[in-house]
Amino acid sequence: MSAMQVSIRNDEVVLEGGLTVPGRWLRDHGDDPESLNPDTSQRKVDTFAINPEVTPASLAVADGWLQVDWSDGATTGHHLDRLIRVASAPRRPAVRETKGFTLDPSLELWSDPPPVRWFDAEVINDDGAWVEALDHLRRFGWVAFDGSELGDEPLMRLVARIGYPRRSIFGDVWNMTSGASEHLDSAYETVALDVHTDGTYSHDAPGTIVFAQQIKTGEGGDSVLVDAFAAARDFQQLDPDGADLLTRYAVRGHYIEPGVYLAAERPPLRVGPDGVLEQVSFNNYDRSAVLPEAELVDAVLDAYAGYRAVFSNPARAIRIPWQPGRLLVVDNWRCFHGRTEFTGDRSFRGCYTNHEDLEGAYRIAGLIPQV
Ligand SMILES: [Fe+2]
Repeated sequence: MSAMQVSIRNDEVVLEGGLTVPGRWLRDHGDDPESLNPDTSQRKVDTFAINPEVTPASLAVADGWLQVDWSDGATTGHHLDRLIRVASAPRRPAVRETKGFTLDPSLELWSDPPPVRWFDAEVINDDGAWVEALDHLRRFGWVAFDGSELGDEPLMRLVARIGYPRRSIFGDVWNMTSGASEHLDSAYETVALDVHTDGTYSHDAPGTIVFAQQIKTGEGGDSVLVDAFAAARDFQQLDPDGADLLTRYAVRGHYIEPGVYLAAERPPLRVGPDGVLEQVSFNNYDRSAVLPEAELVDAVLDAYAGYRAVFSNPARAIRIPWQPGRLLVVDNWRCFHGRTEFTGDRSFRGCYTNHEDLEGAYRIAGLIPQV
């Protein structure tokens, strides 16, 4: 294989194909052991001692490695494949100027719900089969298991695959039993619950919700899931201005009970710096009283109601019937969840986990690119 052609143009390094990398930036991003700790991937180079006028003096390529001698006398080394990946990605703007959002094309957006796929709970103990279940969670926003033993141990084995229990006002591993009002929250009642996001009152809403049913005697109480990303896409087609407003206008949520007063806010459609939809937040039960600017009142209320009209269409919802031994993981940043009315007794064990741990599990499993 011939070595990649690289060259210097002014203060930039030019890679094959015309990709340019600014010298001052490259001097700060070496992969050699003097620049980056090989054990921790933490930066060692003193970023703030780099002369802003630094320029590349000479280049050499061998074995997928770019060596750069610099005008300040330093030498850095760079993995060419990683550098090409970074240089090929869209350059990050200071402020997002694009309207609306795009969607990660590797996700399976569903507006016409697929049949519920039940994974055998045994796959939680199988490294190979587990990755398939994890990928189902990544692509669809939920994954369901059947045939589990009861109790906390199987729940904890599942949680360990995607992170660890996240402590909240509900504790770390919670018990949700009908009729037992441990908290003054609609989740503990028997009525139907509209689909919603958990933790709109948290600056960092739970990444996943994990449920494990322990007891069920009556009828009803199916979990109801909606793909909020697919609904956002469809709402954006119907009302691009309304969807764009929901990416910018922050809605506040709250959780209040004796001794607790939590509040946080973010746009219902939170978009990353690259314009890709990253997180949905919608919980009309927990929405706070915030008055929009006068000229925005109708636009905000119409956009909020317009998105809700799309995602609350029952034809979009998956219903997941419960029985003891079933487990469900819902990506709380991707899907809205609710439940149908029920009778009798039912009891769940469950917990929240963080979204960055889930994303880390995807990276480790090779399901999304590593940074
Ligand atoms: Fe909930």
